Amino acid sequence: MEALRIALSKGRIFDETLPLFQAAGVEPVENPAVSRKLIIASNRDDIEFLNVRASDVPTYVQHGGAHMGVIGKDVLMEHGGEGLIEPLDLHIAQCRLMVAGFPGTDLQEKKRFRIATKYANCARQHFAQHGRQVEIIKLYGSMELAPLVGLCDLIVDVVDTGSTLKANDLVPLESIADISARLVVNRSALKTHNEQISSLLASLGQAVREKESKL
Ligand code: ATP
Ligand code: PRP
Repeated sequence: MEALRIALSKGRIFDETLPLFQAAGVEPVENPAVSRKLIIASNRDDIEFLNVRASDVPTYVQHGGAHMGVIGKDVLMEHGGEGLIEPLDLHIAQCRLMVAGFPGTDLQEKKRFRIATKYANCARQHFAQHGRQVEIIKLYGSMELAPLVGLCDLIVDVVDTGSTLKANDLVPLESIADISARLVVNRSALKTHNEQISSLLASLGQAVREKESKL
């Protein structure tokens, strides 16, 4: 049978997911942060890992290039989740998706806000729900820089400790969603790889519960 392909991004997601996969008895034979290989074998013949950029994980899983993947809820919300199911919260890479800006900014002010973000869909939806007019400026990183150089009034980005905002004289203004990494599965793979997926889900769920009980 075709190996189960799991899409992971290197960096935070890989580092925090690895102990959970190890506890579930699966680990890649090479570290994707070091290897130039994009398909990485595991200690099990029936499972392999794909080294994918974080924002591309939902696309690979949606179109069946990967059967499963691990992504932040922020990336999942921005993608929309079409063709994916989200069976497990891994309780890692925890942060909040927030609106941030200069201290004293009044979000109730009747004006058209300019928002710089890589989360254009989330930002548009959040501000529409509050009946506020916005113009979105799409960026791919370092959002905190944009208001400092007059590109925008506000940013929408993930915040954890708040130190990046603080270092740039910005403050969190409004929370959009609590974020953590999620396991996502391609809908059709649930049928074609049912046994492998069910057993891996059960072991990962157990690993998450054990880790949580030790905290
Ligand atoms: P890309 O390379 O596609 O731009 P990225 O740089 O956002 O991706 P990471 O920084 O590894 O990728 O973040 C992966 C996920 O970890 C994010 O989608 C988010 O859910 C979460 N995350 C991001 N920043 C933090 C943080 N400071 N603390 C905790 N979790 C975070
Ligand atoms: C993320 C995010 C913020 C920062 C928030 O950036 O884009 O800039 O973390 O964390 P804090 O509240 O603890 O400061 P990251 O460090 O992942 O860099 P990158 O997105 O540019 O890769």
